[in-house]
Amino acid sequence: MTGKKAKIAVMVSGGGTNLQALIDAQNSGIITSGKIELVISNNADAYALTRARNAGIKTFTVLKKQLGSQEAFEDGIISILDENGIDLIVLAGFMSILSEKFTSRYEKRILNVHPSLIPSFCGEGFYGLRVHRAALEKGVKVTGATVHFVNEIPDGGEIIMQKAVEVEEGDTPETLQRRVMENAEWIILPKATQKVCEQIISK
Ligand code: GAR
Repeated sequence: MTGKKAKIAVMVSGGGTNLQALIDAQNSGIITSGKIELVISNNADAYALTRARNAGIKTFTVLKKQLGSQEAFEDGIISILDENGIDLIVLAGFMSILSEKFTSRYEKRILNVHPSLIPSFCGEGFYGLRVHRAALEKGVKVTGATVHFVNEIPDGGEIIMQKAVEVEEGDTPETLQRRVMENAEWIILPKATQKVCEQIISK
């Protein structure tokens, strides 16, 4: 059916540069088979929420501390997703691990961007700058980013897209993070999102 778009929910925790890349990709026509319906944050102070509002996207904040348990936290998220008929969830810098109960409900319907070439520097405890610190400590010469489906194993789901980035002499975790974002994450996350949306609407 022409004009049909998959409804996307983006889940965030922080700065939201990957969310911004998705918004920009929607505006520039890289994402044509999906539409960002809403943004959910697990952090009330996330700058990503401002980015969403600036783009006219509905926002929701769901706080585990306030709700008291992982189950109540995930139930809160599920209600928002259900009420809005969401087809695809994109984790864009979402720094909380989701339970098997949650991930199995959305099999092949959750994407995540991770700032390394999985299976290197991934799994529990590897997030944000920690990933780049570990890559520098190991002395790898090439790193990158991965977009994958989310299952019950942290960073363990099927890989959809990867892009390599060279480590440079004198890199700090911060300079490496920036290069990986610019040269890999912001490119492959929108592309992978478009690819999966296309598959969803063609079903
Ligand atoms: C990104 O580098 C993302 O890949 C990483 O956190 C950063 C969020 O930045 N995610 C993880 O480490 C998840 N395991 P952003 O808020 O500016 O998109």
